[in-house]
Amino acid sequence: MKNCEEMRRRFVELRNKFSPLYDRVTAIHKGLIENQIGNSGHGLDHDLMVAQYCLLIAENDDEAEMAWCAALLHSFDRFFSEEAEQLVHDTFRSVEDMFGSVETALILVAISEHNKPNDPKDSMVTIILKDADRLANCVATIITRSGQFNSTIPAVELGYTNGKGRHPDSTYGSPRSCRDDVLSCLEWEASEKFGIRLRKARELAKPKFDFLRQYFTQIEKSFQEVGLDRWPITVLQ
Ligand SMILES: [Fe+2]
Repeated sequence: MKNCEEMRRRFVELRNKFSPLYDRVTAIHKGLIENQIGNSGHGLDHDLMVAQYCLLIAENDDEAEMAWCAALLHSFDRFFSEEAEQLVHDTFRSVEDMFGSVETALILVAISEHNKPNDPKDSMVTIILKDADRLANCVATIITRSGQFNSTIPAVELGYTNGKGRHPDSTYGSPRSCRDDVLSCLEWEASEKFGIRLRKARELAKPKFDFLRQYFTQIEKSFQEVGLDRWPITVLQ
């Protein structure tokens, strides 16, 4: 793994190289905060973390830089809904002349495909962005971000605090609790449809999955400790 100094150097290099894009994206995030609009857990910290993971897992510099730019724009769908696609195109235009038409297409497709299941037809730029996004969604901040993204559902649902199981009605797109939402991240460890594919990304993901397993164990133990690990409680034994 490249060290911190090398990653900081790469960040500064690309921030300067793509400064029109970087400046527009950071201004958009600043505006969301100043206007108290919220970003549903998809702030600048997330976009930049995804961008930097792209550099760590890509196997060549050209694809790394394309994915880095795509990562800066990949969260627009989370806070601009219907206008997102147009805003992505408008914002990307600030650096479009630094890429050829094929590269531009690869970047824009990666952005629009990033939250879809794995597809054998995915380009390497799309694979890098999908893997980097999943990696960034497995770090410890996912626990807070899940609550921001799912502010109307409970942290946990009584009766579903044990083991690795989740409520049968919970799905990835529509979890019944934040616990169930975070639990979905473990699918990225081995699932064919949503699993992390690149070798370097899988290496980086391993300790993050281990941390999340500890987190679920702690939830389970805490509810056992207070006698609320089964629900409803109907018979006293
Ligand atoms: Fe993301």
